[in-house]
Amino acid sequence: MSYNAEFRRSIDDPESFWRDRAQDIAWMQPPSVIWRAKSNGHGEWFPDGVLNTCDVALDANIRAGRGDQKALIHDSAVTGESRSLTYAELTEQVALFAGALAAQGISKGDRVIIYMPMIPEAVIAMLACARIGAVHCVVFGGFAPHELAVRINDAEPKAIVTASCGIEIQRVIAYKPLVDQAINEADHKPEHCIVFQRPQLSADLQPDRDLDWTVLMDIADPVAPVAVQATDPLYILYTSGTTGKPKGVVRDNGGHAVALRYSMSLVYDAKPGDVYWAASDVGWVVGHSYIVYGPLFAGCTTVMYEGKPVKTPDAGAFWRVCQDHGVNLLFTAPTAFRAIRKEDPEADAMEHYDISSLRSLFLAGERLDPPTYHWLAEKTGLPVLDHWWQTETGWAICCDPIGIEPMPAKPGSATVPSPGYNVDIVDPRGKPVRTMEQGQVVVKLPLPPGCLTTIWGDDERFVKTYLAPVPGYYFSGDGGYVDEDGYVFIMGRTDDVINVAGHRLSTGEMEEVIAAHPAVAECCVVGVHDDLKGQLPVGLVLIKDGATIRPDELEEELVEMVRERIGAIASLRQTIVVDRLPKTRSGKILRRVIRQIADQEDYAVPSTIDDPAILEEISDHFRR
Ligand code: COA
Ligand code: AMP
Repeated sequence: MSYNAEFRRSIDDPESFWRDRAQDIAWMQPPSVIWRAKSNGHGEWFPDGVLNTCDVALDANIRAGRGDQKALIHDSAVTGESRSLTYAELTEQVALFAGALAAQGISKGDRVIIYMPMIPEAVIAMLACARIGAVHCVVFGGFAPHELAVRINDAEPKAIVTASCGIEIQRVIAYKPLVDQAINEADHKPEHCIVFQRPQLSADLQPDRDLDWTVLMDIADPVAPVAVQATDPLYILYTSGTTGKPKGVVRDNGGHAVALRYSMSLVYDAKPGDVYWAASDVGWVVGHSYIVYGPLFAGCTTVMYEGKPVKTPDAGAFWRVCQDHGVNLLFTAPTAFRAIRKEDPEADAMEHYDISSLRSLFLAGERLDPPTYHWLAEKTGLPVLDHWWQTETGWAICCDPIGIEPMPAKPGSATVPSPGYNVDIVDPRGKPVRTMEQGQVVVKLPLPPGCLTTIWGDDERFVKTYLAPVPGYYFSGDGGYVDEDGYVFIMGRTDDVINVAGHRLSTGEMEEVIAAHPAVAECCVVGVHDDLKGQLPVGLVLIKDGATIRPDELEEELVEMVRERIGAIASLRQTIVVDRLPKTRSGKILRRVIRQIADQEDYAVPSTIDDPAILEEISDHFRR
């Protein structure tokens, strides 16, 4: 079938389209109802289907004869170790850890926070939760205790699973004290904290609350997958929104399994037995969908990499991993290749490795800038495939549908809408714009399976953020345009979300931290262009009258505060003390214009501006 035919069918008759796709996964009870609409235009996929996501990912592969195939390869560049688990071995570990969780009284619907480095135990913990119907909530290890505390309060987990440490290049980061600090700060207190002790560092355990992973595993009885409704939540994954409070994106079991299974064929053209490597972290959506679930649903071998694209030990690290494990499909964020290119512009390191197993390279998480696209295509000679998606959707909204019909590449474009996503571009009043005209990127409801079902504990926020802005559509928060061939170009966020090294961060959240400093009268944070990380946050700050702190002292303190409160990952390295901030007459800070000035872009002086002379002052600050 051609892409056009498949796409049209998915839009004209979504129920029949997804009924067929649903046959590709193992159900305990196949759905008879495919779609049930809710009053707000959103709805539920496969509402009477029954399955277990861990069964689809693991046991079903053993039933299909893949028990002895490698399911997971862990490659740790920071410890120099590598180990693998077959489907049979991984299933055994997961069934045991599921038993360990069950023995602690954790059952269907309970939440479990997982705060772990990139080690197989993180994947085992996620799949074990799925096996007993518990809802996992993975928090990226680079987030500071306060961020973890916010998520503990929101998700109210019964248990936290962690490890004694993570390793950042050569720095051993003790995780347990961070977890202790977060639990102390949080109002909600989890009953248990299960700690995997790594050889690099041993964590102190608190009697009554803390449990040792290995001890629990030694006494655990394996458990079988429990039946859950397709609509039951599989996980919560927090992502940055425009306010300081992150949004807990909720994903269901059935729609998720069907959509990810389909995406493995459509977007990645993956076959059972393929070695699939998503170089990301389990703390992000890419890690959830394509380190853990997608590749396992498709019977692939997934690679989990603990290391960086550079410095562990050099810019050849990615090519080394591809060679050592025979990687067929590699997915990462453009920033990783920008880092490699910066250190090894001619890709000399590639020559030392045999990367002939690689078929395609996939990029997402931020805009794939044309120079990075061309460099990669030229140096590797491989298809370089950009695709656009978000934590909310869990899989590609736009892609080159190579599993059906490869499309000619247009650098800068994420290619065409994936079947299931009826993408449109609208103006601020919600009216569709013309071809080539920029606007808000929206998706006509219903969204396909696999997308968020709500925001944890806050359905009102879900409706307000995604459904209310343009009635009848999902509001993506991204701006872009469609060209005459139907190619979609995503140009960046239109809200206060920024993308730093493929990590999604909220400037609003950073502003809240900065504004809490007693010497700060007012502030704003904008994302300015950075050649390596895509964007970097920069804070503009107004000192309170009468405050005695020196501007350079304040600037340093603010950088440290953001690091302490949000985490090093925020990468806020610069704040600038200014005399005034540009505002509209109604008092709204002109963040967009500030960003344009910082990036030396042309900008229109807004007619609503309070005092245009301020723009020149801001310009001077950035020139300095
Ligand atoms: N635990 C603790 N700290 C962490 C961490 C973790 N899991 N991950 C990152 N950090 C820290 C880093 O050590 C760094 O600290 P520093 O300021 O003290 O040096 C800080 O957070 C910023 O990290 P990062 O954004 O990763 O920057 P970097 O300079 O260390 O590396 C890249 C730059 C481009 C190499 C890196 O960002 C990268 O590999 N990106 C790949 C893209 C990616 O995985 N995106 C995920 C979504 S697909
Ligand atoms: P996250 O939810 O962390 O995956 O971040 C999602 C955001 O990253 C999107 O809203 C986009 O702004 C950006 N993004 C992801 N993939 C792409 C892409 N291929 N092209 C442009 N922007 C992208």
